[in-house]
Amino acid sequence: MKVTVIGTGYLGATHAACMAELGHQVLGVDTDVKKLERLASGSVPFYEPGLEEILQRNIESGRLSFTDSYAEAAEFGDVHFIGVGTPQKKGEYAADLRYVDSVIETIAPLITRPATIFGKSTVPVGTASRLGQRARELSPAGEALEIAWNPEFLREGFAVQDTLRPDRIVLGVDRNRSGQAEKVAREVYAPILKDGLPFLVTDLATAELVKVSANAFLATKISFINAIAEVCEASGADVSVLADAIGFDARIGRRFLNAGIGFGGGCLPKDIRAFMARAGELGADQALTFLREVDAINMRRRVAMVESAKEFCGGSLLGGRVGVLGAAFKPESDDVRDSPALNIAGQMQLQGAAVTVYDPKAMKNSRALFPTLGYAESAIEACEGADAVLVLTEWDEFRKMLPADLDDVVRRKRIIDGRNCLDPQTWRNAGWAYRGVGRP
Ligand code: UDX
Repeated sequence: MKVTVIGTGYLGATHAACMAELGHQVLGVDTDVKKLERLASGSVPFYEPGLEEILQRNIESGRLSFTDSYAEAAEFGDVHFIGVGTPQKKGEYAADLRYVDSVIETIAPLITRPATIFGKSTVPVGTASRLGQRARELSPAGEALEIAWNPEFLREGFAVQDTLRPDRIVLGVDRNRSGQAEKVAREVYAPILKDGLPFLVTDLATAELVKVSANAFLATKISFINAIAEVCEASGADVSVLADAIGFDARIGRRFLNAGIGFGGGCLPKDIRAFMARAGELGADQALTFLREVDAINMRRRVAMVESAKEFCGGSLLGGRVGVLGAAFKPESDDVRDSPALNIAGQMQLQGAAVTVYDPKAMKNSRALFPTLGYAESAIEACEGADAVLVLTEWDEFRKMLPADLDDVVRRKRIIDGRNCLDPQTWRNAGWAYRGVGRP
């Protein structure tokens, strides 16, 4: 099939490469010419395991190319995916829809034959219906231009795997008109549907809500365990053991119950806020007031970590040296958007500490976002002369670190494990003061 993917960020670039991998002819579309040049040369502008290989393979086979021309895209594709960003509006909770709006405003007038647009971006409920109406107004194809919503559930770090082997496909279609969207989607995804993958066809509103509800649930699960961690800290209990114990209950499940410095990234924080804002517009704000608490618990973890580091350093960070291991919002990613790790590093610096950060992949992005922090080329270098070491992203490299690696490097043997990813006994036995989150 001839497919375009509009927007070549984390979501769009992955989707474009994976659609080509499924055998389709794919055109990736973006307004950022530099990014397009880089992608076209086979280089992924962010770190995503396995993606570069698929990108290169499909460029070489001639199935994947890139353009900044919407006219070319409209001419090329019978199927168009929208994968542009929906960030949080500045100073507001609501999502900024200018990029999705602009895609429709630009491409719809150029589409002259029957086509299907599948929105993948995370949008407030009601957006797809509105965009559909606008697209039909603008396009010479009129009613023959269909809009459906096909939310994306990919996790950064597992983006390729999640796209090629998703756990479900959700498709929202306009129930008020008879269209081809389901048939088209089944053709697009045919190679992955074979394995009996759940394929749920819903109305547009449900599909939009599925995505934000999933993210709200995940955020709630993390803040739940972080709230329990606070009680564990107050009572001397161990939240890691507690999470294991409750996680054996299949109704609860152990995943996403890791206490620590909380969630960040380009999705969870802004999605729960946009969800609250949209519920408010719909007069259902009471339904989601609990998400305010989820957000508050999450943001409190960052402040608590800074306080914990301060206490650990004898009551003040002023003049202290802190080695921070990890800057990405999670391992296997170079994404530092709303990263708790980098946020904590910044706050400690504001309180007078000399902070040196090391991350295996996120150095470039960290430097761009927080240029005034100190940066090191390795974990060891970041910890040189440190009064405290903070592990804030649970990269394998840090999990595997041994006290002996740092014994002669630091000034004081103090380690704070912001992700509960180290073995406390190993460090304590080696003479280190160890502090985790919600652990005695
Ligand atoms: C998330 C959703 O998982 C994905 O389905 C959606 O499509 C996009 O948003 P992602 O942002 O890539 O994906 O990250 P995710 O793996 O969900 O982690 C989010 C944050 O939660 C990270 O900062 C992570 O460190 C934190 N987290 C995760 C915890 O603090 N504890 C946990 O137990 C799990």
